[in-house]
Amino acid sequence: MILIDGKKAAAELREELKKEVAELKNKYNKVPGLTVILIGELAPSKIYVKNKEKSANEVGLKSEVIRYPETVEEITVLEKIDELNNDDTVSGILVQLPLPKHIDKQKVIEAISPGKDVDGFHPMNVGNLSSGYESSVPCTPLGCYLLIKKIETNLSGKKAVVVGRSNLNGKPMTQLLLKENCTVTITHSKTADLKGECLKGDIIVAAVGIPELVKGDWVKKDAIVIDVGINKTEKGIVGDVAFDEVSKVAKALTPVPGGVGPMTIACLLKNTIECFKRSQKN
Ligand code: GUN
Repeated sequence: MILIDGKKAAAELREELKKEVAELKNKYNKVPGLTVILIGELAPSKIYVKNKEKSANEVGLKSEVIRYPETVEEITVLEKIDELNNDDTVSGILVQLPLPKHIDKQKVIEAISPGKDVDGFHPMNVGNLSSGYESSVPCTPLGCYLLIKKIETNLSGKKAVVVGRSNLNGKPMTQLLLKENCTVTITHSKTADLKGECLKGDIIVAAVGIPELVKGDWVKKDAIVIDVGINKTEKGIVGDVAFDEVSKVAKALTPVPGGVGPMTIACLLKNTIECFKRSQKN
């Protein structure tokens, strides 16, 4: 079984991106910039944002974090986004989720210029991705996609089963696999015969948020299994895949932690660079 090393893959991607940033700096005499807006004091959000800032600096991006207290008014955030949309030194804008209840998430997402939407959450990017046009792609499914491609370069005709239908993971993952000519089944917690559906998959991407849902006897021999889950349980952090059982049947499997997670941030940097390049073309 191939244990898919997300840490190593992310480090390799960051190395490539670092070289690319240096080339862009030579060509344009400026570097792509990422601005993250962090509202409130949620510990996981603070950790994510710190890691994003560190990784951005590591590859040579200009990086900035704007912090607001939990009580910040929605209009203040929207005005800041407007300012960043019009700032040529800012290539990518990310508003860390979740947001406090008094702030309308969708309004914030739609305020970000689609060309600077490094999360790929803006309806324009969602639509472009589903139509197969150029777009920002949400970082986690993009990371999963790159890990799958490391194992299997030609995915044409493969049966892929995506477990989970979120806007963040399941739906964009489906679009990426379709673009690769996979036959994709989207399943979720209400799917009638989830085990039966999973068993058909040459590729399984589990992003449903249920600890160790995908069991060993749900997986076809030699399938590629990608585990997006991060679930806190009494035995620690576990994924959506029963790792020990599935590792006995799968051809390749991502661990949790150390699989998809590290790729997500590396893909955010990649998206920032892509936004910069597109802005230079226009
Ligand atoms: N919070 C957890 N994951 C994400 C993400 O991918 N993007 C944003 N903006 N917030 C998040």
